[in-house]
Amino acid sequence: MRFSGQSTPHESARAHVTGEALYTDDLMSRFPGILHAWPVMAPHAHALLARLDISGAEASPCVAAVLTAKDVPGENDSGANRHDEPLFPEEIAYHSQPVAWVLGESLEAARIGALQVRAEYRPLPAILTIEDAIAAQSFHSTPQRIVRGDAAVAIAASPHRIEGRLSIGGQEHFYLETKCAIARMDESGGVMVEASTQHPAETQEIVARVLGVARHRVTVECLRMGGAFGGKEVQANPLATIAALGAAKTGRPVRVRLPRRQDFALTGKRHPFQAQFTAGFDENGRICGLDLTLYSDAGWSLDLSDPVMGRALFHCDNAYLIPALSATGYVCKTHKTSQTAFRGFGGPQGMVVIEDILDRIARTLAVEPHIIRERNFYREGDVTHYGQTVKDADRIARIWEELKTSSNFYERLAAIHRFNAAEHHRKRGIAITPVKFGISFTATFYNQGGALVLVYRDGSVQVNHGGTEMGQGLITKTRQIAADCLGVEIDAIRMMPPRTDKVPNTSATAASASTDLNGAAIRDACRQIQARLAPVAARMLDCDETQVRFADGLVNDALTFAQVVEAAYKQRVPLFAHGYYRTPEIQYDSKTAQGRPFSYYAYGAAVSEVKVDGFTGEYRVLRADILEDVGDSVSPLIDRGQVEGGFIQGLGWLTLEEFLWDAEGRVATAGASTYKLPSWSEVPEEFHVSFLKRATEPGVIMGSKAVGEPPLMLAISVREAIRAAVAAFGSKGIVAIDSPATPERVFWALRRAQGREPISSTAAEVMHG
Ligand code: MTE
Ligand code: HPA
Ligand code: MOS
Repeated sequence: MRFSGQSTPHESARAHVTGEALYTDDLMSRFPGILHAWPVMAPHAHALLARLDISGAEASPCVAAVLTAKDVPGENDSGANRHDEPLFPEEIAYHSQPVAWVLGESLEAARIGALQVRAEYRPLPAILTIEDAIAAQSFHSTPQRIVRGDAAVAIAASPHRIEGRLSIGGQEHFYLETKCAIARMDESGGVMVEASTQHPAETQEIVARVLGVARHRVTVECLRMGGAFGGKEVQANPLATIAALGAAKTGRPVRVRLPRRQDFALTGKRHPFQAQFTAGFDENGRICGLDLTLYSDAGWSLDLSDPVMGRALFHCDNAYLIPALSATGYVCKTHKTSQTAFRGFGGPQGMVVIEDILDRIARTLAVEPHIIRERNFYREGDVTHYGQTVKDADRIARIWEELKTSSNFYERLAAIHRFNAAEHHRKRGIAITPVKFGISFTATFYNQGGALVLVYRDGSVQVNHGGTEMGQGLITKTRQIAADCLGVEIDAIRMMPPRTDKVPNTSATAASASTDLNGAAIRDACRQIQARLAPVAARMLDCDETQVRFADGLVNDALTFAQVVEAAYKQRVPLFAHGYYRTPEIQYDSKTAQGRPFSYYAYGAAVSEVKVDGFTGEYRVLRADILEDVGDSVSPLIDRGQVEGGFIQGLGWLTLEEFLWDAEGRVATAGASTYKLPSWSEVPEEFHVSFLKRATEPGVIMGSKAVGEPPLMLAISVREAIRAAVAAFGSKGIVAIDSPATPERVFWALRRAQGREPISSTAAEVMHG
C-alpha cells in the first residue's frame, strides 16, 4: 500500500479539536518558578529615548528583574538579515516599540511593574506613509529593477495607453496562537528555547548573537504553531531572544507570550504597496509594454522586505507574456512595525496589479476581461522578464478551459448580463483569473533540506527534519512520505518536532517548499538505510540484494521489517542516517536580474461570482470554483484544506481586512473588533475545489507540487468579480478601486461608475489616445 496520495486526516486533527495538541505556551506549567515578561512600550512612532529609570519597576512587588540594554552580553540586535533591529533601542522607530521588558512572578506583576518604569522621550517627526517616505527619499535599500526590452519605446509605439495607480493595503496574519517563547538554562550553560517559530535555526542564531555565545549552546524546538502564515518566519526571533536573555540573567525559566493587542501593535504584517503603471497595448488588448513602479511600506527595519519586493517584481507578469517591461521596486522605510513575510511573499501584490491592469484594458476596449486575459497568456516556450522559461505553460490554458467548462462559465456570464440589464440597484459580476506562482526560495542557498531518520531494533522509526508544522499539514505529508520511502506501515513512523540539535542549519519553513525539501531529504535517508538493510535481508532470504523489496512493514513479503532490523543490528549495521536534499538547476543573478530562480511553477485558476448592492456597496460571494495544480497530491485532504484556506485568506485581504494606523502611527485596528476577518459567513455559498489530473511533476518528491501559498492569489478573482459588478452599474469605463475592496470603497466606486461622483484622487485615472 502507498500512503502518499491517500486522503489522510491531519496528524493532529483530533488533538486540535480536543485541546490535547500542545503549543509552546502549554509547556509553561512544566516549569515551576517560570517568570512572565511584559514590555515597556514607547508612546511615539519616532523619538529619542532621553531617560530610562527602571528603579520603580525593580521595587515593584513580585518583579524579578527588568531587562534593558545593560543586560545584553552579546550584540543588542535581533535583525535577521541586516543588523538593524536594536532589541533595546535608543531611538524609537515605531509606535509601541519595547524599550525594556519586565519579568514578574505573574503576568500581572510584570504588567504592574512595567507601569512603574519612568521613560522620557524627545519626539521626532515620523514618516508614516509611502508618500511621506517617497518625499523624504526614505528607503531601506537601493531600488530593485527587472528590465526586458525597452518598455518606454514599446509603450510609445502602442495603439493604446493607460496610466494608473493602485493602493494595496496590508494584512494582519491573525494566527490563532499569538507569538510565544519559553527559555530555560541547563546546568552546562546551554539555553533551551521552545518557540513558536517557522525558522528554529535562525532563532538559534539570533539568540546566540544576543547572548554572545556560540550556537552550539542554544537549542531551539518548535512543537507546532497555531498558524504562522509567514508572521513567524523572522519575527519570532526577538521574542525568543527576550526569553533567553531573561533566563540567562535570572537563571529561571522565562515565558514571553504576546497578548493579541501587542501582537498586532508590535509585530509586522503583509506589506502595503502602492503601484504606478503605464501600459501600452494593441487593438486586441495584447500588452506591448509595461512600465511599473512598486513601493512597499516596509516599516522600521529591513526584515525580509527586499526578497518580498523581489517576489512582487517576479510576479508582476502573473500568467502573461509582457514583451517589454520595466519593473522597479522601492522598499520604503517608515516608522511602523516592520512588515514581513505573509503567504505569497509579495507575489500577491505583484499579481493584483497586473490583473487590475488587464481589467482596465478590457474596459477600455469594451471586450470581456477573460478574453483579454486569454490573449495575453504565456505559451509553451515563452520566457519571463527574468529569463526563466515558463515550464508547462500550456497548463495555464488547459486549466483555464477545464475550469470554464466545469464552472459553466459562459452560461453564467450570459445569465449575469441578463440579470444586470433587468436590475438597476443590484448587479452581479463574474470573473476568472489565473495564478502562476514560482516555487523555490528566491535566495538560492535556502533551497536545501535535512533529515535524520532513526530506526530502533523493534522496527519502529523516528523521523526528524527541519520543517515546522503551522497547521499546513507538513508533518502529515512527510510521515506519509517516510512510510513509503522506508516501506513500513505508517504507524511505525513517529514524527519528532523539529529541533536544532537533531537537524542543524535548516531553512525557514516557508516559500511553500517544505514538503519538496524535507520530503526529499527523508527519502535520501531512507534510501541509505534500505541500502544497508538489503544485504542483510538478502542473506536471510537467500536471494540477490537487488531482489530485496521493502513494503508495508515486510521485506519481500517473507520477513518483517523488524526481523531484518534486529538482524542488521546484531551484524553491527548502523540503523540511522541523515538525509539531505538541494533543489537542482536553480540559479539567479540579482545583478543582472536574470536566471532561473524557480524550480517550477504552481498553476491554478478560479472563477468567482458576486452580487453587489447599489445602495450600500455590500457584496456576497455567491460561488467560487477552483482548479489547482498540485501535481500528484501527497495528501489530497490536506491540499484541499490549503486551497480552501488560502482562498479565504486572500479574500479577506482583498475585500475585508482594512489595516489602519492613526495619525500618531499607532495601529488603529489592533483586534478582531475593529479588524474584519473572513468568517463562516464570507465563505462562498457554493464552493467547488478540484485538482488538475495527469499533473505529475517530475523531479519533485512523489510527483507532487507545492500548495501552501499559491491558492491565496486565486482570491483575485473575487476582487475582479466585484469590479465587473461595479462596471455593470455604469455604461462603460475603467473601474478604479483601491484594495481592500471594502463595501465602502465599492459603494464609492459604483457611484463613480454611475457618473455620480468625480474620479477619486487615490485611484486616479489618466486616459490617453
Ligand atoms: N496553512 C496553515 N494552516 N497555517 C499556516 O500558517 N502558512 C502558509 C502555508 N499554509 C500556513 C498555511 C505559508 S505562508 C507557507 S509559506 C506554507 O504554508 C509553509 O508550509 P509548506 O512549505 O509546508 O507549504
Ligand atoms: N519566500 C518565502 N520566504 C522567504 C523567501 C521566499 O522566497 N526568501 C526568504 N524567505
Ligand atoms: Mo510563507 S510567507 O513563505 O512563510
